[in-house]
Amino acid sequence: MKPATRAAWDALSRHAAAASSIHLRELFAADAQRFARLSVTWNGWLLDYSKQRVTAQTMSLLQALWQAADVPDWTLRMRAGDAINHTEGRAALHVALRQPAAAGPILHDGHDVMPAVHRELDRMQHFVAQIHGRHWRGATGEPITDIVNIGIGGSDLGPRMATQALAAFRHPDIRVHYVANLDGADLATTLAALQPRSTLFVIASKTFTTQETMQNAASARRWLVQALGEAAVARHFVAVSTNLAEVARFGIDPDNAFAFWDWVGGRYSLWSAIGLPLALAVGFDNFRQMLAGAHAMDQHFFSAPPAENLPGTLALLEIWNSNFLGADNRALLPYSQSLGLLPRYLQQLEMESNGKQTDRQGAALECAAAPVLWGEPGTNGQHAFYQLIHQGGRLIPCEFIACKTPDFDLPGHHQKLLANCFAQSEALMRGKTLAEITAELAAGGMAPAQVAALAPYRSFPGNQPSTTLLLPQLDPFHLGALLALYEHKVFVQSIVWNINPFDQWGVEYGKQLANRLLPIIEGTTPAAGLDSSTAGLIDYCKL
Ligand code: F6P
Repeated sequence: MKPATRAAWDALSRHAAAASSIHLRELFAADAQRFARLSVTWNGWLLDYSKQRVTAQTMSLLQALWQAADVPDWTLRMRAGDAINHTEGRAALHVALRQPAAAGPILHDGHDVMPAVHRELDRMQHFVAQIHGRHWRGATGEPITDIVNIGIGGSDLGPRMATQALAAFRHPDIRVHYVANLDGADLATTLAALQPRSTLFVIASKTFTTQETMQNAASARRWLVQALGEAAVARHFVAVSTNLAEVARFGIDPDNAFAFWDWVGGRYSLWSAIGLPLALAVGFDNFRQMLAGAHAMDQHFFSAPPAENLPGTLALLEIWNSNFLGADNRALLPYSQSLGLLPRYLQQLEMESNGKQTDRQGAALECAAAPVLWGEPGTNGQHAFYQLIHQGGRLIPCEFIACKTPDFDLPGHHQKLLANCFAQSEALMRGKTLAEITAELAAGGMAPAQVAALAPYRSFPGNQPSTTLLLPQLDPFHLGALLALYEHKVFVQSIVWNINPFDQWGVEYGKQLANRLLPIIEGTTPAAGLDSSTAGLIDYCKL
């Protein structure tokens, strides 16, 4: 921990020891203004955190931690293009990807990155217009109707999640599919429904060396060439990468390659050409609206004081829950079918960014960083895992997300959806005491002996903390703002925890070992020096 944050941290520890035993019910009973005091609004959004186990004093202590950790200074360093990803010697300038052209320069190594950013956006726009206008056709002259994005991690999760989130905005004649898994079932089942002559592949990989993507790309290429011949590749493959030399080696025409830069982290790349399949799915005007929403959130994050700062508030609340109340996880519960992939997307953003145990000085962290993030859309989760949240005895901070107006307005659906969402956070907060359930069952006419036997099973402890974030609607602008909100939340937490959120060395070791085991499994290298379990597993799979 940085010495500067020590005093603020210790003050929170003392506060937690004194205040954490108070039940949320008592906090609501003691203050009729609790909701008004502990909620923030922005641009038609409402963030209600009054059902968190905090008081005004907790919040001011957390805001003191933000100041002590120097969040404003780190934010300036990020925007100035400093190499804040110090283990890779890279800047983290994803905010440049959504900055309007007229908003001024953003410097990286003394050069303004904005002209290149907007040149690439314009190239994407032109390409999307070509496909939608049926000017770009396949090798046999047929229009393209199906796009297959081949990528993994940050080259898959963002556009995949956003394509589902913006289902209401989809182009009627274009279907976009996503293939990520090395398991051949992913590509094979996708291709089974497609025709080579009307299919376009987008090979998306920052490095253009990722094993999964390269294997899927090679298999897709074989499928196409078998049907249409080698010359067809140019009309059916485009690429998105920072490694244009590898793209050319794969055989993709450089004119059909869209670039981004090493200062864009994979999990922060949706805003770059990695968003191409999304733009093909929903049109470029909608893609630009999403960038505008993200930029609006950037401006809010850069300028709002901590007490009104949405990303800052979410970041500090989670630090409170995990570092001071002991929660080791958070449930993300969107009451929106369209946001169904948001938990998966945020798993990479939060856990790959902040799943670290070494601080910026190379020392072991004294506190836990990112908790486990998990979740599913409501109301489905209510009929699966909510039982454990209500009565399983674990501390599980919940984050509910809902929209004021629906993206698919079927009569009778949306109000029921909202009723369920709000009922869950109310139940989690309030719980039901033994006395309450006893009175309820007795009033229903149950015999006293049966009441006494059943009441313990039907009481709820409550006091489960939750936040509810309400958006006006789910459209490209608000989706962009929502995703930028989480990017900045992760950034604030990384500063307080004193870690680099932009590297991911933990992923490398597994990749290294997979490369070592592959020739053993293929039978080209003898097994030597393996532990008995790994050797036994390989043995079992030998044909
Ligand atoms: O999982 C590790 C990782 O490096 C992610 O950070 C990245 O998003 C993903 O692999 C894919 O990498 P690439 O875009 O280079 O194929």
